[in-house]
Amino acid sequence: MPVDLSRFARIALGAWPTPLEECPRLSAALGGPRILVKRDDVNGLGVGGNKLRKLEFLLGEAVEGGADTVITFGGVQTNHGRQTAAACARLGLRCELVLTRSVPRSGEAYERSGNVALDLLYGAAVHICQDDEQTAATYRRVVAEARAAGRSVVTLPVGGSNGVGALGYVAAAAELRSQVGDPGPDRIVCPIGSAGTAAGLALGTALLDWPVRLDAASVSHPPDESLADIRRLAAESAALLGVPVPALDHVRVTDRALGPGYGVPTEAVWEAIRLFGRTEGITLDPVYTGKAAAALIDAVRSGDIGANETVVFLHTGGLPGLFGYAPELIAAVRG
Ligand SMILES: Cc1ncc(COP(=O)(O)O)c(C=O)c1O
Repeated sequence: MPVDLSRFARIALGAWPTPLEECPRLSAALGGPRILVKRDDVNGLGVGGNKLRKLEFLLGEAVEGGADTVITFGGVQTNHGRQTAAACARLGLRCELVLTRSVPRSGEAYERSGNVALDLLYGAAVHICQDDEQTAATYRRVVAEARAAGRSVVTLPVGGSNGVGALGYVAAAAELRSQVGDPGPDRIVCPIGSAGTAAGLALGTALLDWPVRLDAASVSHPPDESLADIRRLAAESAALLGVPVPALDHVRVTDRALGPGYGVPTEAVWEAIRLFGRTEGITLDPVYTGKAAAALIDAVRSGDIGANETVVFLHTGGLPGLFGYAPELIAAVRG
C-alpha cells in the first residue's frame, strides 16, 4: 500500500534521497554477501544523521503549533541533541539540551569535543546533569524559565522517538524501496537505541508489502525491550496514519554486539570501524553504527547471513561521536 504522509506538517531539513552505495571491497573482505550502505550519515544539515528524518516531522509539528523553544534530552555525546541544535539554528528556534552523564566516561575528548562542541557551535544551551534526578529537576527549571520569559516550549523525547518522529523512517522505507530495484535486498541491518528508526522502517516496509527482513542491532537495551519499543512506536505511527498495525514478523533484534553496555565499544566494534574505513572509506562511530556493523560482521562469520544474500546496512551517522573517543580511536587505528 502506498503511504501518504502529505497531511503531516513537515519541514525540509535533509538532502533526499540519501545515496545507496555498493561496497564491493567490504563484501569481498567478508567473503560473500553483497553489501550496500544507505548513507543517512551524509544527509546534510549539522553533519547529518538519522535524526534529521525524524526532526522533519517533529519540528514540522512544533512550528505549526507555534513553538519557539525546543527542549530535548540525551547522553553527553548525543547525536540527536546535536542534530536538533543544528535544525533549531536553521529554523531560528531556541534549543535547550538537557544531557545526562549516562555513559561511564569522562575526560577532555568525551566532555568537550565531538557533539558537545557542535551543540555549542549551533547555539544550543547545554545543561549537563549527573543523574536522572538532576536531569528531571533541570528540565523542570528550564521549562519554567522559558515560560516565565513568555516562550512557547515543545519537548522532544530522547532520540526523537515517538510516533511522529518514526514517520521519518516510514518515509525512508519508501525512499529505499525505490532505490533497490528488483530483486531487492534480503535484509536491512540497522542499529537500535531509542527505537524510532527501526520502528519506522518496520512499519514502512510492512505497509509497502516489501518482503525484506529487518535486523536491528541493540546498542543499549535487552532485545525483548527493544522489540517491545519497536511495536509500541510502530503502533503509534500506524494510529497517526490511520492504518491497522501490521504483524512485524519480519523484524528481529539482536544484542550480539552490545558488549558491556551503551557507549562502551568492544574490540569487535573497533575492528568493524577499521574494516569499513579501510575497505570503503566509510566512517562509523563507536556507539551506534560501529556496533551495528560488528553485529553484521559477526552474523556473516557465523553463517547467519549467507554468502549469497544482499544486505543493506543503514548508516545512521554519528561521526562527531567518534571524536569523543579520540584516545581509543588513535589506539585502534595506529598501524
Ligand atoms: C548515529 C545513531 N545511530 C543510531 C541511533 C539509534 O536510532 P534510534 O534511537 O532511532 O533507535 C542513534 C540514536 O541516537 C544515533 O545517534
